[in-house]
Amino acid sequence: MMSITNTIIVCPICHLNLVELPQNCTICLNNFRNKITKIPENFIDLTPESIQTQSQKKSETKPLRTQLFRSQIIPLLYERILPPIWAMGLRNLGGMEVEFGEVKQFFGNDSEVVVDISCGSGIMARQLIKTGKYKQVIALDYSEFMLNELQQKMKQENIPLSKIMLIRGDVEMLPFADNSIEAIYSGAAMHCWPNTEQGINNIYRVLSTGGKLFATTFMKPLPSIVFRFFSVDELLNIMLKAGFVQESLEVEKRGVYGIIKCRK
Ligand SMILES: C[S@@+](CC[C@H](N)C(=O)[O-])C[C@H]1O[C@@H](n2cnc3c(N)ncnc32)[C@H](O)[C@@H]1O
Repeated sequence: MMSITNTIIVCPICHLNLVELPQNCTICLNNFRNKITKIPENFIDLTPESIQTQSQKKSETKPLRTQLFRSQIIPLLYERILPPIWAMGLRNLGGMEVEFGEVKQFFGNDSEVVVDISCGSGIMARQLIKTGKYKQVIALDYSEFMLNELQQKMKQENIPLSKIMLIRGDVEMLPFADNSIEAIYSGAAMHCWPNTEQGINNIYRVLSTGGKLFATTFMKPLPSIVFRFFSVDELLNIMLKAGFVQESLEVEKRGVYGIIKCRK
């Protein structure tokens, strides 16, 4: 854990890690250092707004598609309601089991650190831990209630909390160093982010060269009323603009489910 906090984990604002950061940071007034050196009871809050000083904070609120998950009720119901519906084909015929098999195969055996971005209640992060294949599993979500739910599920499944690093963070200002992560999973999430382009740009920044991204989302013709749904071309454009190249990029539409597999 210590070496990860010295290398991979950085301040989401200035992108410096604990070693590089000046002793008395004049930008965040040591907020990042204080958070990262304190052992948290539940998760480390590395959202930009938790690091920024009062005068730096912007007053903008996140859109409904993001805020929805920051209620107590949705995280509580999430895994109780959705998996059987997904398994009927909304999210692959066969649901999460099928998705987990594909992710495991895509990541292969050469990734030590794997990050589940927008992990929600950790439906994939918990499976990744159970493989025992990764040195470190990091799970990041913007919703504190989703992260709490993830911890409850780990307890129920007897997975030690030491097996995971939990971060409250924003995909648009990730607290990870450039080129530092070998494998990222982000399931059913891009349609919930405030700005998908910015989220993917950030993921591109933190992936190491050759690093892999497995991301899924929902597609048109679902109507973009609360969430933002995509066409295959829109997804391809977002990925190419972020820097991914056509040869290492695959976007597949299965019904209203979209699956992106790519390498940086
Ligand atoms: C539909 S859930 C998906 C959960 C899980 N990955 C899964 O496969 O079921 C979408 C998640 O995206 C998270 N999210 C929304 N905006 C975010 C942001 N800006 N940064 C990080 N996570 C965000 C929400 O809190 C929510 O947990």
